[in-house]
Parts: sequence; C-alpha cells; structure tokens
Amino acid sequence: MKNIGIFISGGGSNLQAIIDAIAKGDITARISLVISSREGVYGLERARKHGIPYAVISRGDYKDSNSFGNAILELLEKRRVDLVVLAGYLNILPKAVVEKYKNRIINVHPSLIPAFCGKGYYGNRVHQAVLDYGVKVTGATVHFVDEGTDTGPIILQQSVEVLPEDDVNTLAERVLKVEHQLLPKALKLLVEDRILVDERRVIIR
Ligand code: GRF
Repeated sequence: MKNIGIFISGGGSNLQAIIDAIAKGDITARISLVISSREGVYGLERARKHGIPYAVISRGDYKDSNSFGNAILELLEKRRVDLVVLAGYLNILPKAVVEKYKNRIINVHPSLIPAFCGKGYYGNRVHQAVLDYGVKVTGATVHFVDEGTDTGPIILQQSVEVLPEDDVNTLAERVLKVEHQLLPKALKLLVEDRILVDERRVIIR
C-alpha cells in the first residue's frame, strides 16, 4: 500500500477530502505524514484528530533552500512517503525534493492553469484576479509539480462558471468544492498508476 505525504499551510479542507476518500475506501493508500509550513493551522488539528503523524517545517527556520529541502527529504524518507500531495501549501518546494519525487508530487490550484497562476497567485488572490479580469469561466486544476510555480504537466481540470453576482467568497467556495472532488480523483489515478506523462501531455489509462 502506498504512503502519501500531504503538505498544507492552512485550513486543510483538501487534506480532509483525501482523509474522507481513503476512509470511504475510494482510495487505497495511507497518509503517513502531514507537513505544515506553519504552526497553528486547522489542517494540523485535522491530522491530529485522525492520528496522522505531522510536523511543521517552516522555511524561515532554515538558513537556505538546501537545508530546508534536506529537512523535508529526511522526514519523507523516515515516513517512507511514496507520493506527495500539495494541498493548499504555500511554499515553493526546493529543487532537491522536486527532483527526487519527479512525477510523484501533485498540486491543486484554484484556477484553470495557465490562467491566473504562478508567483503571487494563491488563495483568494486568484479569485480576485478572475473577477477583476471579467472571465466567464474559471475552475480548478490538479497538476504535477516541477521546478516552476504551477507549471507542471496538467492531470485534471474542472470548470466553474463565474456568476454575475459572485464576489471573492462565493466564487472561492464554489471552486473549493470542485477542488475537493478533483484532488482525490487525481490522487486515486496516481495511486493506481493510471497516469502516463509524455512531455507536457498527461494520458490517463
Ligand atoms: C484554498 O484557497 C484552495 O483553493 C487552495 O489552497 C487554499 C486552502 O485550501 N488550493 P485548504 O482548505 O487548506 O485545503
């Protein structure tokens, strides 16, 4: 059975969606580690409640990206993590981690990449940019993590209509619901080894 490592930075509703999918038997895997980028976030409470080993690894506690990466890798190895999920995680993973887990790290982003993504586009800033631009459709994307920000090969996408009466909160809520479906769906495909990557193209078999 594969061990999943989940990285969070906040409320952990996407973490909870994966916990629930495993509990329901939709995904046959175990969450062997939760890593948060900061203390005191509700996502850690969720891990605690479900008896999942957790740790806080804050970038600010390390002198450079290299030592930050080593601390992460050490813990991933200790917990025998096979696959990594970034679920609302706000740090950029160091190169050493991305390379070691090439095509084994997935991230969920609350827009239809390549729109409204990259440096500075996270959380409600994404939805504000969507509303400011006036697009009629947004959505969620699950993609492989590479050295860039939100630039890895795309696994799954699901669109969400932008309504005239939407504000950031109503839009964020509707997109988050889609994330809670899309991320476990992508993780299931990864766990069952049904994802082929050919350059930028991802083929689901
Ligand atoms: C949300 O903005 C979500 O769109 C993004 O990360 C943020 C927090 O999600 N993926 P979570 O509740 O911590 O999973």
